[in-house]
Amino acid sequence: MSHIPEQPEPAANKSVATEKVTVPLLQSYKQQGRKIVMLTAYDYPTARLADEAGVDMILVGDSLANTALGYDSTLPVTFDEMMVATRAVRRGVKRAMIVADMPFGTYQASNDEAMRTALRFVKEGGAEAVKLEGGRQRIALVRQMVENGIPVMGHIGLTPQSVLQMGGYKLQGKTLTAARGLIDDALALQSAGAFAIVLEVIPSALARSITWRLTIPTIGIGAGNGTDAQVLVISDLLGLTFGKSAKFVRRYANLKTTISDAIKQYADDVRNSSYPSQQESYDVPREVAETIEKMNDEDDENSGYVIYA
Ligand code: KIV
Repeated sequence: MSHIPEQPEPAANKSVATEKVTVPLLQSYKQQGRKIVMLTAYDYPTARLADEAGVDMILVGDSLANTALGYDSTLPVTFDEMMVATRAVRRGVKRAMIVADMPFGTYQASNDEAMRTALRFVKEGGAEAVKLEGGRQRIALVRQMVENGIPVMGHIGLTPQSVLQMGGYKLQGKTLTAARGLIDDALALQSAGAFAIVLEVIPSALARSITWRLTIPTIGIGAGNGTDAQVLVISDLLGLTFGKSAKFVRRYANLKTTISDAIKQYADDVRNSSYPSQQESYDVPREVAETIEKMNDEDDENSGYVIYA
């Protein structure tokens, strides 16, 4: 074990909201015009830090696939991989609402299978809602989930699970017909009972119009400043990604460099014997150390091949 178990923290950060985030609380934030903050997380430490920083919703996004598991799209990530991440996030979070992303292939084949997957995210993973991609084609499923007690977050615009159809990660809703389609998708999801909708990579004017038409919160990513909430992928925010970032990403740290520098420094310290130092090592009383050294000498005298007769 390399760390000492934590003691309870004496004072909470008073500037951070403490009320448990629920569907009605988010609804009241929309009514008050209070911005909602969502961030992805895939493990215990980042989920805990996000929660303690006052993030309102933590999305265990299927972006786990590209950001942490090294897949080149979100398509290959499995239910089991998402479940491990969801449970780790659950252990780190007290206040934020945890939303589990339904991975590709778990809700397209049948609504019954989708229901079973969503129920497992809630029952075994500790998720408080699920997110799924798609608009009007998901209405029956969203209704079934909501009627059975599972809060559902919609996701329209750029839906990365449809990358094969879209032919890349491109701005959606550019034409009047496409914009009208997205408005209809959003209204349909809302009337099926979705409690919030992600709007990904669509023009700001369209996102603002959808936000104005809906009574439920909209969550923008690459959708401008007119939505009720914003979401970012934590690896983008922290600067822990490889390759070019999307235009909408604002990087708040450069962890890739920080981590890389720390690892290089560690490797140098091991190679030049400056790690571990005396303070980082364990001592015994001098007599014991001397006896141990003597044992070395004795073993040395007795060393050599033993020829068994
Ligand atoms: O998986 C994810 O991170 C997402 C967000 C981009 C909304 O779906």
